[in-house]
Amino acid sequence: MALVNTDKMLKKALENGYAVPAFNVCNMETVQAVAEVAGEKNVPVIISVSEGAGKYAGFEYIRAIVEEASKHYPNDIALHLDHGKSVDVCKKAIDAGFTSVMFDGSALPFNENIAETKKVVEYAHSKNVTVEAELGKIIGTEDMIHSDTESFTDPKEAREFVSQTGVDSLAISIGTAHGVNKSIKTPVIQYGVIDSVHEAIPGLPLVAHGSSTVPAKWVETIRKYGGEIKKSQGISEEDIVKMSKTAICKINMDTDLRLAYTAGIRQDLSEHPEHFDQREYNKLGKANVKEQVAHAFELVIGK
Ligand code: G3H
Ligand code: 13P
Ligand code: ZN
Repeated sequence: MALVNTDKMLKKALENGYAVPAFNVCNMETVQAVAEVAGEKNVPVIISVSEGAGKYAGFEYIRAIVEEASKHYPNDIALHLDHGKSVDVCKKAIDAGFTSVMFDGSALPFNENIAETKKVVEYAHSKNVTVEAELGKIIGTEDMIHSDTESFTDPKEAREFVSQTGVDSLAISIGTAHGVNKSIKTPVIQYGVIDSVHEAIPGLPLVAHGSSTVPAKWVETIRKYGGEIKKSQGISEEDIVKMSKTAICKINMDTDLRLAYTAGIRQDLSEHPEHFDQREYNKLGKANVKEQVAHAFELVIGK
């Protein structure tokens, strides 16, 4: 299957009461892990690349790997830029062959966010690329993504924003948080906010960022084999299941894959001090990511 944009997959999720997971990647093993699980289940998936991951691996490299992966399976795969902070980086991802981009103007004043988002929409839509924007502030830190404050999305603003920009989906602030420790503010999901934003913009798929569940087993494995993670707190699995049945149609997970991968590598190197071939220690990292991704699909799609 060729790469597709997110239009049909998210609308279908909205109509049928499930969500499509978006998994962040930055290397070949993680792309393969996500593509193999989604392909074997024959379910749609979004493969996300942050600006930071683009700097690390190169948009073109990742696009080539994802494109290759898509040839092996029948399911729909969208390749998505996550948290693009400028019009320029969104254009670079589109030119590199991404099928979907997020312009994150959530730190900008409302009118500036509209103006910049519009520029991205104009360019993206001329190339059949879908656009996600963000309204409201999602708390937390991950490399290039940072907010000390949280403000839930306002439904009236959402309606105006969407009618002025023509975006295809909207990331909203509903109490989730980026990073490994979401208890910087106890994650209480604001279902009322989801419902009222949905009422204001009924046909538009909504997006939940910061939705990793931070499984204790990966955190404990990392700690057991010498890693240091001071505080950890994820979104509960019950909330992920519940959110997936609302107008939230795309659920973003990055931290959970990082934890799974690192737990595998730490365990392998610790149990096999003789290993120095990356093909050996990457094996358990990739297997853990596959296990995590399979579990996430069960939560958000139910298969
Ligand atoms: O939502 C944020 C992404 O998970 C951030 O990823 O650490 O590669 O910028 P990054
Ligand atoms: P997590 O830190 O919860 O994995 O959030 C990922 C995310 O929102 C990517 O955009
Ligand atoms: Zn995010």
